[in-house]
Amino acid sequence: MDLFEAEIIQLRKELNQHNYNYYVLNNPTISDKEFDEKLRRLQELEEDHKEMFDPLSPTQRVGSDLTQGFKQVVHQRQMLSLGNTYSLAEVEDFLRRTNASLEGNSIQIVGEMKFDGTSISITYEHGRMVRAVTRGDGTRGDDVTVNVKTIRSIPLELQEGDYPDSFEVRGEIVMPWASFDALNKEREFNEEPLLANPRNAAAGTLKTLNSAEVSKRGLDAYFYYLLGENLPFKTHYESLQALRRWGFKVSDAVAVINNLEEVKNFVDYWGEERKKLEVATDGLVFKVNDYAQQRFLGNTAKSPRWAIAYKFQAERALTQLKSVSFETGRMGVITPVANLEPVLLSGTIVKRASLHNEDIIRQLDIHENDFVYVEKGGEIIPKIVGVEIEKREADSMALQFVDTCPVCGTKLVRNEGEAAWVCPNTYGCKPQITGKIEHFVGRKMMNIDGIGEETVEQLYTVGLVKNIADIYDLTNDKLTIVGRIGDLTANKILRGIKASKDVPFERVIYSLSIPNVGETVSKKIAFAVGNMDKLMSITVDELVTIDEIGNVIAESIVSFFADERNKEIVARLKAAGLQMAISADAMAAKSDKLKGKTIVISGVFEHHSRDEYKKMIEENGGKNSSSISKKTDFVFAGANMGPAKLEKAQSLGIQIINEDEFLKMLE
Ligand code: IVH
Repeated sequence: MDLFEAEIIQLRKELNQHNYNYYVLNNPTISDKEFDEKLRRLQELEEDHKEMFDPLSPTQRVGSDLTQGFKQVVHQRQMLSLGNTYSLAEVEDFLRRTNASLEGNSIQIVGEMKFDGTSISITYEHGRMVRAVTRGDGTRGDDVTVNVKTIRSIPLELQEGDYPDSFEVRGEIVMPWASFDALNKEREFNEEPLLANPRNAAAGTLKTLNSAEVSKRGLDAYFYYLLGENLPFKTHYESLQALRRWGFKVSDAVAVINNLEEVKNFVDYWGEERKKLEVATDGLVFKVNDYAQQRFLGNTAKSPRWAIAYKFQAERALTQLKSVSFETGRMGVITPVANLEPVLLSGTIVKRASLHNEDIIRQLDIHENDFVYVEKGGEIIPKIVGVEIEKREADSMALQFVDTCPVCGTKLVRNEGEAAWVCPNTYGCKPQITGKIEHFVGRKMMNIDGIGEETVEQLYTVGLVKNIADIYDLTNDKLTIVGRIGDLTANKILRGIKASKDVPFERVIYSLSIPNVGETVSKKIAFAVGNMDKLMSITVDELVTIDEIGNVIAESIVSFFADERNKEIVARLKAAGLQMAISADAMAAKSDKLKGKTIVISGVFEHHSRDEYKKMIEENGGKNSSSISKKTDFVFAGANMGPAKLEKAQSLGIQIINEDEFLKMLE
């Protein structure tokens, strides 16, 4: 071995140790600067000694942006889930049951934290990571090794130790609150939809097809399960200690428990302490400690009989209602929003909560100034779940829904069978007008770059754009008289307007904001009807013959086009050169290969985007649906399919097909 080789090996060893000290023990022994210097030195040496390349070198933790799709791998041992309960009484039952079936042999339980992330199975051979696989459907998962390698707290190579030649370790990949908050801040800045909770964020990140990006997301992992042939341990607890010795992050919230009393203490203690942890947890897990007893108890089809998860109730806070604001949306729907006395809930301050509609307010029986319970079930948007009646002021009145529009003052209407109160002043109520203009220019509609919420507001206020057709009368001169719109922005807007004239017919329909006509319905109608002239004179009877179009939608369309104002707007859009008929290409792409099939598409795909696949499904006569039910014909699964969906599909016996299989179907 030459000197450089020895230095490379030494540096790798040192850097592994420093990663471990920093990310697992939380106890760094060198400065970040020193660490970076060593890492850079190793990078240089590896660059000059390509023959020494090692995919598990600490230099490989930064990932690459060339990740290909994920290979599906069959788990060597099935990945089961856990039986759940929210009640301590059921945990008692579990203890009694297991005790009874073990006929008086004393049992020991291990209590653990239940981490709220996404599970992972990692195989090590001769102390080196060989494969990391997601749970998938429990039988097959995605090989996400490239991404898992970037998680600094997970050892790539184990330090010397008494580990077996080959073993599998399972744990939870989590996104710590700090990383989650930072990620959402960035998304907010980029006007991207926020991630609901750290679990979704962790699962989504793990399936990202860019390991360099994964490397930056600050994921972490806790390990709780060791599997292998002829393991030298008799109990689960011993295995956890061993995992910790070998360099894995094992939570401190682990205890051997001998009786019910100790279970209760464990629940009380960690039920509070967990709030101080830097990662999300959603419960505790109780496992029979002794392996022989575990084997004796065995598994059901879904979960082991030797373990149970006790889930925490969502966190609640009590706070006072200060007032209710009523907001008018694009379609005139009035949404009540509760303004609350700010209260700390699961680490964030809550000031507002949606009250949804009048029925919900009635059900909750909220009065003015009431003290209300807000809950955040692991999601970002809190909801009001109840009222503390004892704290109600004697003379406080039940909350009244407004009867006139809070913006334009028009008397509200509520249609039979519907929950929403609506402002009928469609053409005179400002948020309805500007909301429709904003919708029109949006990405999935006419996609006019350069016009956002603020610009719409300005254009409306100065009187330049009072409806969607006015957009096509804009000129550079007109735009630049508006404050804050410079020449550059004006040109960008005009380019966007020009490009919108090529947007396909189905999106033109969607952009009109016809009540009850969303993206999918617009496509259906575009293909079935063919052009705008026909659509404008169509009858309800004709419309309901179209698959999926019922009376409500049909009547909504007919009355929309019966209104002279809408007719005029569409005529102006036509004169401006928008696509008013389905294109020959779109028609040609159509087949009825998927006729009558209800398909749920989920995950990330390699060859086409999810939106493109949705379009293909529709063009071939199929129906897209977002939730799996008995009516689903098959699930079209990509790399990032949620485990809940997979589980559901399996439990209903629904066929799951992959990308290649799908494309074959359409060949
Ligand atoms: S044991 C066969 N222990 O919870 C039992 N699971 O709801 C394997 N989880 O799929 C799981 N913390 O993703 C176990 N301390 C813990 C856990 C834990 C979180 C997750 C895991 C599992 C899910 C079941």
